[in-house]
Amino acid sequence: MPPKSATTPKPLVAGNWKMNGSRASLQEITLMGLGYDADLRRNVDLLVCPPTPLLYPAATAALGTAIAIGAQDSHEKISGAHTGDVSPNLVLDTGATMVILGHSERRTDHGEKDSLIEQKAGSAIATGLVAIVCVGETRAEREAGRALAVVRRQLRGSIPRTATAAQLVIAYEPVWAIGTGLTPTANDVAEVHLAIRTDLKKLLGKQQGEMVRILYGGSVKPNNAKELLSIDNVNGALVGGASLKAADFMAIAETYR
Ligand code: PGA
Repeated sequence: MPPKSATTPKPLVAGNWKMNGSRASLQEITLMGLGYDADLRRNVDLLVCPPTPLLYPAATAALGTAIAIGAQDSHEKISGAHTGDVSPNLVLDTGATMVILGHSERRTDHGEKDSLIEQKAGSAIATGLVAIVCVGETRAEREAGRALAVVRRQLRGSIPRTATAAQLVIAYEPVWAIGTGLTPTANDVAEVHLAIRTDLKKLLGKQQGEMVRILYGGSVKPNNAKELLSIDNVNGALVGGASLKAADFMAIAETYR
């Protein structure tokens, strides 16, 4: 599935290792690099987001592979007395180039709200990182018919208005699809991604809004990647469980060959 045209964003397949992996897992990045040949590199960007202590060794393992490394969070401030937190500057200093912000697990575990996520995204972008801002409804919100309203509210509240398409990625991740093996129907994914695209054009201007990558995330696996990634306005995937093993992650990336 080659890129549709020069006027659509280049797809991105991103792996979110969450609180998994160890130094031994870095060999998976080496294996991913072996499968990421020139043809695939032309068609899709690859990113791996390991836990913070692995950022620097992961960036080292990825040298020469064209695989980008990203963090799973960064603080809204550039430095200071914030025990246990990590600044966007340090993330960049490890060799990482992107950061996931506002993942539903951060929103739940750490009570992160849209306004904080917007600040974090602003600082990350000012530092020179690409911000991957996550949005997505819960099961109760979808069952109540509020999925679109929730996603649009999160989007409006969490993205810096001055961001360009090169600085920002959106990930639509229905909370009920994360780690459950459940996925929305293709029609439901198409509906949400179109709403996000329409709002991005309003919030960032037509030109930038059209080129922001919108990833789908939530139980993306080798066996459903083709269907999910061929939906309109789906410009790649944010992959959790299936990103821990090079074979699964690369099978998903291969969709774009
Ligand atoms: P999953 O996680 O692929 O394991 O469902 C996706 C995510 O939370 O980013």
